[in-house]
Amino acid sequence: MQSSMASGSQWRQRLRAFVRKSLGVPELVDVRSYLQFLFFKHVLRINRSVPWPVHFTSRVVCPERVKRGRGTYPGDMPGCYIQAINGIELGDYTILAPNVGLISANHDPACLDRHLPAPPIRIGSHCWIGMNAVILPGVELGDHTIVGAGSVVTRSFPEGYCIIAGNPARLIRRLSREELTPGSNSKDPCQFSMPPSHNARPENRAEGAD
Ligand SMILES: CC(C)(COP(=O)(O)OP(=O)(O)OC[C@H]1O[C@@H](n2cnc3c(N)ncnc32)[C@H](O)[C@@H]1OP(=O)(O)O)[C@@H](O)C(=O)NCCC(=O)NCCS
Repeated sequence: MQSSMASGSQWRQRLRAFVRKSLGVPELVDVRSYLQFLFFKHVLRINRSVPWPVHFTSRVVCPERVKRGRGTYPGDMPGCYIQAINGIELGDYTILAPNVGLISANHDPACLDRHLPAPPIRIGSHCWIGMNAVILPGVELGDHTIVGAGSVVTRSFPEGYCIIAGNPARLIRRLSREELTPGSNSKDPCQFSMPPSHNARPENRAEGAD
């Protein structure tokens, strides 16, 4: 009985590995989410101009102005609004929780049809943007920044290695570089205490988890 269960799970793993290879599923994206993304993109034509996997309830405006590093998929969680009119740059292995807003341009108060120019939003590598957080135009966040749930980030924290939270977001705590630098204390490149599905290591990321 036990051996038939084990072979069943091995069979599923092999099937997933085969689908992953055949479809070219991107790093850190689970197969089920990727199939969902392909269905919404190619069949229902939702987010069809976005070249990376995004959730069908998220919206990306001007995806061509988004620059992202390895393993970073802005909008892969539900309900995100990624508005890149002035550009958005994200580093490697940065994760956005559900309902995050990255707003790179404000409307012009004198003419609401227009947008005001601003420097791009820049978010470094290994950052974690908590649920319902909003990042406003021109904000720069350095590597290893954690943004608390529900925060409104109005100004930059370019030095990174910190937790910011609140409205407007303020520094809650600094994070020690030694602790977070890959290869110093641990083998894991992403040192935040995150749920397993968000751990930015392919082998640790649960298949099918949101
Ligand atoms: C930011 C966060 C990681 C901080 O966790 P922590 O280090 O354990 O912080 P603590 O709970 O010890 O709180 C420290 C202080 O920050 C405040 N704080 C924490 N999170 C906050 C938030 N989101 N907004 C405003 N203030 C916050 C606390 O009230 C506390 O203030 P005090 O010292 O005056 O009492 C966590 O609170 C959070 O927001 N996580 C996001 C979770 C999420 O969005 N998950 C989605 C799935 S990925």
